[in-house]
Amino acid sequence: MPVFAVIGHRARTDGHWSLNDMPGGAGRMDVLCRVVNTSFFLSHDLRRDVVCYLVLRGEPGPEKTIRFQGDRLRHLNPDERSAGSLIKKALELEAGPEFRESTKGVSVRVGGLVRLLGEHSFALLDEQGEDIRVAERLPDAFLLSDHLNLDEEELALVGDLPCFSVGPRSLHADHTITVLLNELDRRGP
Ligand SMILES: C[S@@+](CC[C@H](N)C(=O)[O-])C[C@H]1O[C@@H](n2cnc3c(N)ncnc32)[C@H](O)[C@@H]1O
Repeated sequence: MPVFAVIGHRARTDGHWSLNDMPGGAGRMDVLCRVVNTSFFLSHDLRRDVVCYLVLRGEPGPEKTIRFQGDRLRHLNPDERSAGSLIKKALELEAGPEFRESTKGVSVRVGGLVRLLGEHSFALLDEQGEDIRVAERLPDAFLLSDHLNLDEEELALVGDLPCFSVGPRSLHADHTITVLLNELDRRGP
């Protein structure tokens, strides 16, 4: 079961933003929407075994985590606005410490990276890591950043995680996931 988590450093934690302004007022929510889409979409199908977490660290806080579960997902279409609308609905729901479902397969809770790191054995994705083509075994859970580098607090949390690279160039987060899923597909179940 591949698990992806992406840190949205500026992604708003409330629903006070417009689907027409996801790169601006929503704090680069467009990047997170593309991560959701690439995590799940096949041609005319969904990857039902994938789970994707969005860790929202922007204004107004506190941090929230949104979870997309492939085996329960409904109402997700391949355009960015569709993912954006599901995220917005999740953020309009009153969130507590445990996940609450906002639409089928999409849930939200208060809390961020610290708690998530205790729940999955994540590896960091970074171009400096071990090449996934030669790695004997790949983990199930992968952590990525959005368009920004990890900050010092995050680096302190993830410093000891294993680290994997999909290639020598710095890619967008969604493209990184596509390459990784391709490698997992080739390796088989
Ligand atoms: C656009 S990059 C992050 C910003 C970039 N570090 C910078 O210089 O501003 C998005 C994320 O995709 C992942 N990524 C990008 N290229 C990668 C690669 N070649 N191998 C593994 N992960 C990669 C990393 O998790 C990275 O944080």
